[in-house]
Amino acid sequence: MQVHVADHPLISHKLTKLRDERTDSPTFRRLADELVTLLAYEATRDVRVSPVDVKTPVAVAKGVRLTDPRPLVVPILRAGLGMLEGMQRLLPTAEVGFLGMVRNEETLEAVTYAERLPDDLTGRQCYVLDPMLATGGSLATAIDFLVKRGANHITAITLLAAPEGIARMEKELENINVPVNLVTAGLDEKLNELGYIVPGLGDAGDRLYGVV
Ligand code: PRP
Ligand code: URA
Repeated sequence: MQVHVADHPLISHKLTKLRDERTDSPTFRRLADELVTLLAYEATRDVRVSPVDVKTPVAVAKGVRLTDPRPLVVPILRAGLGMLEGMQRLLPTAEVGFLGMVRNEETLEAVTYAERLPDDLTGRQCYVLDPMLATGGSLATAIDFLVKRGANHITAITLLAAPEGIARMEKELENINVPVNLVTAGLDEKLNELGYIVPGLGDAGDRLYGVV
């Protein structure tokens, strides 16, 4: 797995505000949205395009268009929903599929409770959105799901990642013959005993949408 930690002062600035415990939900949602758009620019560096000619008012120019099949964006519910609009801003013609997952807060294992994806993802590029890569259980399960349906290029976009989660993903994806990239705004220090990212930003879903 290729890991890219975005290194840009605007991303660091927005991430700092996002982490702040005093940041309220509306501001948190706006910052998450803005951060994703900035990360999406980096994450789509290898989106597939095909050459096309375009007629300008002056002459014919060479250009590119997104190759079919269109990329599929997959937010992991619930917190990944907070990243969808920011991603669509950059990839407005992408299709969107959904995976609902929740961590069992005792075992920390990911449980899949909803799935709305095309049956056949053969040859598709997929962009998985989830703000937090903690133990890695949710993202590894999501990626396995997409690969089993035929996706052949996967990029995960997160706001924060923990080294433990990256290590687990690398191990679990070892035998997967599909390139997987991770683009994250920050790589934090560790997980605490409750499986939270330290220093992190707390519970992303709760901060976006309220405590359930
Ligand atoms: C959070 C987060 C990730 C997951 C990360 O979701 O949004 O999906 O935990 O943890 P992991 O790497 O250890 O699997 P949560 O289970 O809190 O659900 P929510 O998005 O509905 O709040
Ligand atoms: N999920 C979150 O929302 N935050 C964490 O720190 C870990 C998992």
